Amino acid sequence: MRRFFASLIGRSIDGLVGMRDKRDAPAKYLSSTAKIEGWGLNFEIAPTLLLLDAEQYRLGVTGTLFEIGVHHGQTAILLALLARRGEQCVFLDLFDQQEENVDNSGRGDLRIFKENLAKWAPGVAAEIVVGNSLKVDFASIPALAAGIRFAHIDGGHLRDVVLNDLYKTEALLAPGGLIVIDDFMHSGFLGVNEACNQYLAEARDERLSAIAAGKNKLVLADRVHADRYKAALRSTLKPPFGKTVEFYEHSVVCLDAH
Ligand SMILES: C[S@@+](CC[C@H](N)C(=O)[O-])C[C@H]1O[C@@H](n2cnc3c(N)ncnc32)[C@H](O)[C@@H]1O
Repeated sequence: MRRFFASLIGRSIDGLVGMRDKRDAPAKYLSSTAKIEGWGLNFEIAPTLLLLDAEQYRLGVTGTLFEIGVHHGQTAILLALLARRGEQCVFLDLFDQQEENVDNSGRGDLRIFKENLAKWAPGVAAEIVVGNSLKVDFASIPALAAGIRFAHIDGGHLRDVVLNDLYKTEALLAPGGLIVIDDFMHSGFLGVNEACNQYLAEARDERLSAIAAGKNKLVLADRVHADRYKAALRSTLKPPFGKTVEFYEHSVVCLDAH
């Protein structure tokens, strides 16, 4: 597994996971054969997420890890394992309110998620929020109001829901924070792509910069550290990965082979 990661990103992952209490936990989880049902993670995108998390550590960026759209916890558990001492996690899903899951993207199951979380990330401070992201006031959740370090947006896949999730997350992003949006290039969920395009075209306060795209994700970062994150990605991605492409006047690192 380590060699596989290293071949993907061009260097050992030891340095990337070695700064938290259970340094092997993310790699162990990712290499586990006990697969958790879900769609947010795969061996191609995981090294990028670990790399960005490690760069946040180097930059001293701290805050809450947050996922919108949990399903059974495939990505949420990685986020839980990336939490450092003193950091919190918040996981938001409709869970038993599936009648509001209008695009039928997954089906959150609170019992299964709790079992998976207890098995893979015991003792991690995680707050589980049951609700519709359109109605939840993110700022009323203290762990989010304290500042979001790393967010994975993968809840409702319609344009207005994704825009809602993006703007509400952006508003609470910690300095140096990152937002990863799933299904950016999924032809079955074009609302996600539409929302990302609208968000970047509007660029209301220009706080965030698109830094990377590919493997079905778009990564946005606080502009303050955007160049550092991109440099970290470029230093590890080997051709044919890592090309720079222009997107809404942002220089974006291409995560796909090109
Ligand atoms: C694609 S799945 C999430 C997959 C998960 N991130 C993973 O890594 O496997 C989408 C999830 O979003 C939830 N969801 C859909 N619309 C939502 C909304 N408006 N607010 C909160 N959760 C929502 C669904 O219940 C479902 O569990």
